[in-house]
Amino acid sequence: MTLPSDAAFARSFSDALGIACTEARVRRFPDGELEVQWHPGAMPHTAVVVASLAATQTDSLHDRLMQLVFGIHQLKTAGVERCIGVVPYLGYARSDTKTAPTDMVGLQIVMRHLHYAGMDALLTVDVHTPAALHNAFTGSAWSVNAVPPMAKALYAHLPAQVPLSVCAPDVGAWKRARAWAGALSTPARGAVELAMVHKQRIRPDAVTHDAFTGDVEGRTVVVVDDMISTGGTMAQAVRTCYEHGAHAVWAAATHGLLVDPAPVRLAEVGVKGVLIADTIPDDRTVNTPLAERLHVVDVAPTCAEELSAVLPTGEL
Ligand code: R5P
Repeated sequence: MTLPSDAAFARSFSDALGIACTEARVRRFPDGELEVQWHPGAMPHTAVVVASLAATQTDSLHDRLMQLVFGIHQLKTAGVERCIGVVPYLGYARSDTKTAPTDMVGLQIVMRHLHYAGMDALLTVDVHTPAALHNAFTGSAWSVNAVPPMAKALYAHLPAQVPLSVCAPDVGAWKRARAWAGALSTPARGAVELAMVHKQRIRPDAVTHDAFTGDVEGRTVVVVDDMISTGGTMAQAVRTCYEHGAHAVWAAATHGLLVDPAPVRLAEVGVKGVLIADTIPDDRTVNTPLAERLHVVDVAPTCAEELSAVLPTGEL
């Protein structure tokens, strides 16, 4: 079962599991209220609801959150026993800690809404901080690792004769960079070097850096992160790698939010290609200079595989 904007991901997901997929009807009334309707008929024991918590061209992130809350609540009141949310991108996941006593923890609030609506379990992809998700959600929560399918897709684009480095655009991405380096090293290509940009965020949409570690000279470099939002972090890292002599620089991030001005920023720093997963419903690069450099990897089959591995046989 899916919200309309997530139909492509949901179809790939349900095809991989061999189960039927139905799409909700969402209506918006003139006063702004929303209505979510499922097809009438027999309700399953367990329903999987696919909905990415990211804004689309027609709906804000908060519209999408309410659609998911309404959709889950309706299924539960119509007789569904267990509701599993498949939320490929989990908006507010970065809001996972307080730096002052009066700060909000957005992740916790979103998780409580979904729990009270009736979501019993949650599967998401490369969540910002898995431990924060497990603390914030009362039911079972799984974060699928998108690095293996993404690295497999990227490998074919990288020239075999040029040595490779993987670069973390900030300290937080270091573990991810190690995972990418492991996934991209093969006996044929040899060892993959690691590098890191030491980022400082100076505004919500702007970053700078004060140091660089590692060797990228003459190499193809892949800068890896969990998401590209305004593109400040990624563009800074790509530029820094070129300043340190990189031959060509790719960007690979699971969630391509690509909020304005990310497409232009990345194109301007000369990124060779941008690899993202299909966790965000819209392609934000249409009609931008980045359009032809964007590559999207379908991670729905990997999500389906992970879900079927954790559910009792025959539950779906
Ligand atoms: C930060 O901790 C995240 O991992 C990303 O690096 C960040 O959210 C990207 O944001 P932006 O594209 O706006 O720099």
